[in-house]
Amino acid sequence: MSNYEQLISSWRASPEDFWKEAAEQLAWDTFPTRILQQNDDIYRWFADGTLSACHNLIDRHVKAGRGDQAALVYDSPMTGGVRSYSYDDLLEEVSRLAGAFRRAGVEKGDRVVIYMPMVPEAVFAMLACCRIGAVHSVVFGGFAARELAKRIDDATPKLVLSASCGLEPGRVVAYKPLLEEALQLSAHKPEQCVILQRPEHEAELKEGDADWRQFTEGAEPADCVVTNATDPLYVLYTSGTTGVPKGVVRDVGGYLTALSWSMEQIYGMQAGETYWAASDIGWVVGHSYIVYAPLLVGCTTILYEGKPIGTPDPGAFWRVIEDHKVKVLFTAPTALRAIKKEDPAGSYKEKYDVSSLTHLFLAGERADPDSLIWAHKLLDVPVIDHWWQTETGWPAIGNFAGAGLKPVKPGSAGLAVPGYDFHVLNKWHEELKPGEIGDLAIRLPLPPGCLPTLWHNEEGFRKSYLTQHPGYYSTGDAGFIDDEGYISIMSRTDDLINVAGHRLSTGAMEEVISNHAQVAECAVIGVNDAIKGALPVAFVVLFADAEGEAETIEKELIASVRHEIGPVAALKHVIAVKRLPKTRSGKILRGTMRSMANGEEFTPPATIDDHTILDEIEQALGAEGYPQ
Ligand code: COA
Ligand code: AMP
Repeated sequence: MSNYEQLISSWRASPEDFWKEAAEQLAWDTFPTRILQQNDDIYRWFADGTLSACHNLIDRHVKAGRGDQAALVYDSPMTGGVRSYSYDDLLEEVSRLAGAFRRAGVEKGDRVVIYMPMVPEAVFAMLACCRIGAVHSVVFGGFAARELAKRIDDATPKLVLSASCGLEPGRVVAYKPLLEEALQLSAHKPEQCVILQRPEHEAELKEGDADWRQFTEGAEPADCVVTNATDPLYVLYTSGTTGVPKGVVRDVGGYLTALSWSMEQIYGMQAGETYWAASDIGWVVGHSYIVYAPLLVGCTTILYEGKPIGTPDPGAFWRVIEDHKVKVLFTAPTALRAIKKEDPAGSYKEKYDVSSLTHLFLAGERADPDSLIWAHKLLDVPVIDHWWQTETGWPAIGNFAGAGLKPVKPGSAGLAVPGYDFHVLNKWHEELKPGEIGDLAIRLPLPPGCLPTLWHNEEGFRKSYLTQHPGYYSTGDAGFIDDEGYISIMSRTDDLINVAGHRLSTGAMEEVISNHAQVAECAVIGVNDAIKGALPVAFVVLFADAEGEAETIEKELIASVRHEIGPVAALKHVIAVKRLPKTRSGKILRGTMRSMANGEEFTPPATIDDHTILDEIEQALGAEGYPQ
């Protein structure tokens, strides 16, 4: 039996013993006796355990003699700066900020929204929250005011932390006006906003705002607060099928247990080594593998404020690997495609010594075999696709650099991670045979670390994830399992699309577009894109009297999606059509339009209302250069 099979069989023999043993890696104040607790279809891990997340992330490493070791390295080609913080430094920064939170009245269980760019202070803020048991909710900087407002209203924070600006290539993003607009839109008003001034663009502070430095000055360092294992550590909002984001809750004990297990068995990391997740702290990858997991196991983590290309060139990633002796890099396939496009021969890599790298992990969207094989040839290390979601918080399908690699099958996301019992089901909940495509579902209970519920919305949690296939968690993805157990992801079964590894809701874009006075109806679909994986394309039907203004309206719609959702939505293409194809019952045939735009074979559904509409759509797509 391989190590992987041994792990799977020991987990199957007793999931509770398996996770109890994993939990022993953490420092607990009270080690749990109830490992898994069930209440109907809601499960809780380690219900009677107590611990401090921050002690596990920082203090225990300092006590164990790692105080001098680099904990966080901030590498910013955007500012030209590199700063390294040891575990001692981290302890000082985080306890002082936690003390400042406490002085400002933040107590255990209070929420703090963090709307910040990739700067060390954002990481200090996340850790300072967990030091005092406050619940952070980080909002990605590429989201616009309205999205921020929705999150503020749902999380009802006492404090909002932000910065004067973020830095995008060729553009300074002023955060303060976005924050002010969000606070005008939100019903909930936080007690205070704390703003980190960056020299690239200083913000004008208003009454009720605090300057970050003054806010922390003279604060009494705060000690770690012990929490229940089931207390929330953070809430991270993610796109749902409507414009309302879902507040994914992460608990303390289960999450840290799962992360610690994953660092050893999946990523093969040991204390003292350097791990780099080239993502953003606003996404789940950033939460789990920039901040929590590497620190939890005593690694050095890299906080990279830059892009794979253009900052300054396609050698950026290889330079960071050399400079910081990165052992494992985790990025999105879109980043590889961007590098490959600019430097197909990989000549930039030759300028750097990347021999510290042992594995490259990819996630966020399907890893196309071309990019995977290209990276493997270039770097001469295993390139591993793995699959997970904001909801799971850590990988569910993958391969095992620590436990022992199984053969990589390009095109497949890998094997089920112990703890996840995957099944492929049809709509009648019947199990499909190997190779047959259906709904990818996970039999309950989910392992530790996965969302126990949605923030203040258990009914929403049940409705979104547990009702489609009773007894299972529905992933929202379609896929198949082959006869060796490898799982391949084919598509989403809902309205979510992945644009450059960013999860976006086409439903949310449709809501913005249909608010335009001249739009009668619309449909947004994700069309294949060679770099970003998918790009949104909007089809709009205009009211008859507005048809002459199509070009102006298209520009207005692109601007309003950017303004309402944010630049990451990347809507660049709006196509005005006379009618949308529908079934007789009125359902818009988004799948058919997607196939047409992608140049894929498709069979028009028998229930289509009027076949001539498809010819019109084909013509409209052709005029816009689709399929590309
Ligand atoms: N704050 C403000 N704006 C942001 C932002 C942020 N944090 N992040 C992105 N944006 C903006 C960009 O500036 C861009 O604006 P523009 O339309 O004015 O050019 C827009 O949002 C789209 O950004 P992005 O999706 O990053 O595309 P890009 O064309 O700038 O770069 C890639 C393309 C492939 C290089 C880039 O998408 C990338 O690095 N992807 C990796 C994604 C990733 O790591 N995802 C995490 C999952 S693991
Ligand atoms: P997010 O919650 O932003 O991490 O997005 C999760 C979704 O991204 C999944 O449900 C998948 O649709 C997609 N995804 C993530 N990783 C992969 C992968 N390795 N292969 C295919 N799709 C992926």
